[in-house]
Amino acid sequence: MTDQIQELAQLVTESERTVVFTGAGVSTESGIPDFRSPGGIWSRYDPEDFTIQRFVSSPAARRAFWQMSSEGGLLADAEPNSAHYAIAELHRSGKLDCVITQNIDNLHQKAGVPDDRVFELHGNMQRVVCLGCRSRFPMPEMVQKFQVGLDIPDCPGCRGILKPDAVLFGEALPVVTLREATRRAQRCDLCIVIGSALVVYPAAYVPAYAREAGARLAIVNLTPTPLDHEAVVCIQGKAGEVMPRVLERVK
Ligand code: APR
Repeated sequence: MTDQIQELAQLVTESERTVVFTGAGVSTESGIPDFRSPGGIWSRYDPEDFTIQRFVSSPAARRAFWQMSSEGGLLADAEPNSAHYAIAELHRSGKLDCVITQNIDNLHQKAGVPDDRVFELHGNMQRVVCLGCRSRFPMPEMVQKFQVGLDIPDCPGCRGILKPDAVLFGEALPVVTLREATRRAQRCDLCIVIGSALVVYPAAYVPAYAREAGARLAIVNLTPTPLDHEAVVCIQGKAGEVMPRVLERVK
């Protein structure tokens, strides 16, 4: 693996404009389970309960969400791990164009990547959005309302349904974010995929767009992905161990 780490460090050194594409695997070492590994979220919860249709039509589904949130079950106190910090270091070195992430945990920003350099294709759990008037509110404020009254909080402005500002199954991805992320992927010269199974679309198209536009592709993932054969370097290892070792070797 050391040679592969040196090879990825060399790709970063040569890069003028690196895009990092992350999935849940970059946050597992922060204590947040991913979705498809053994013991992952979809082995314990039914994805059907996380569709927009179910959330809007079923007060029980909404109550379950607020209950899970109030138990801190949604990333409330997670901290960045060494992979997030290595990516933030890439930003400080001037090499990083942006992070395009499927994650909703805000950990890239917490590690020091500026908000305007993080494109969250699946939204962010730090906020809730009103389905009526589209107002947004901080998640902790609404969780506190639920904890005090144990009623499902609704929009303080229009009494509409409040939904996590994360993309639920059956919802469209944020169009402006997806368009800008795609544009960035198509003009980078290196795309590093970290911690994603690359099986959920349209997000998983992003690294393929980079590759098709001529960027070199690198993958750091514990298990094989459908794009491994397109990667210049493919490291099967833990992001929190690999990425700091790569950054140490970047000149
Ligand atoms: N280091 C590197 N890779 C890891 C680590 C780690 N510490 N931990 C897990 N992985 C790898 C797993 O092997 C897996 O291939 O990360 C990948 C995570 O894949 P998924 O669980 O499918 O997560 P992700 O690709 O982000 O899923 C995409 O699916 O359910 C939806 O909206 C959800 O955003 C999510 C989307």
